[in-house]
Amino acid sequence: MKITFKIWRQEGPNDKGGFQSYEVNDLTEDMSFLEALDHLNEILVLKNKKVVAFEYDCREGICGQCGVFINGRAHGPHDNMTTCQLHMRSFEDGATITVEPWRARSFPIIKDLIVNRSAFDRIIENGAFISAKTGTAPEANAILISKTVSDRAMDAAACIGCGACVATCKNSSAALFTSAKINHLNGLPQGAPEAHQRVLDMTAQMEKEGFGHCSFTGACEVECPEGISIVNIAEMNARFIKAKIFG
Ligand code: FES
Repeated sequence: MKITFKIWRQEGPNDKGGFQSYEVNDLTEDMSFLEALDHLNEILVLKNKKVVAFEYDCREGICGQCGVFINGRAHGPHDNMTTCQLHMRSFEDGATITVEPWRARSFPIIKDLIVNRSAFDRIIENGAFISAKTGTAPEANAILISKTVSDRAMDAAACIGCGACVATCKNSSAALFTSAKINHLNGLPQGAPEAHQRVLDMTAQMEKEGFGHCSFTGACEVECPEGISIVNIAEMNARFIKAKIFG
């Protein structure tokens, strides 16, 4: 396959940055998208040029590190798929592929396609935990949880924190991420004792990090590789009002 990559290059957070084009002629459709970028970097190394900085870890859709905009869509052309799960067969031979980093004020660019998502870590630090001493693992049936409740908690817990929701939102809102992290604990009996404090602390940190407000357009749900539902945001808002009244 012959592909032209049009990639955002930026030396650091204060650099202006810009697109650069690279033509690669010997890709195969079985290569993953990240393998294609690896191959481009091998070519750049041989030409003694600076490699393209991009982030990844698991390459199997669970760590959330690999997110970039590909042809204007977070994580590329397919729904419910991370960048590392994307393969070159999704593109036409001869195509030009535009690759950009997440763009949001709260995710400053570190270099090229890598952004700093530590704002998410700080939101998690403010409540996505249970502080009760748990001791050894309890008997699995000691706390009975209905299937509906456990399914909802597990669906929320599927969030991999990639940041696609923020990057794709016109307001750069982190409401989908924060609500998923709140709901996966607040919906379960184990999360109940700190439920009110959790929603107040995590939403306060979300605001402090400079994320925008949610205007409920649903773009985040569409681009989320894990299919996290925006119902989580409505649930978070209801929990927030309850916490303000009873917290
Ligand atoms: S590299 Fe881990 S989700 Fe893509």
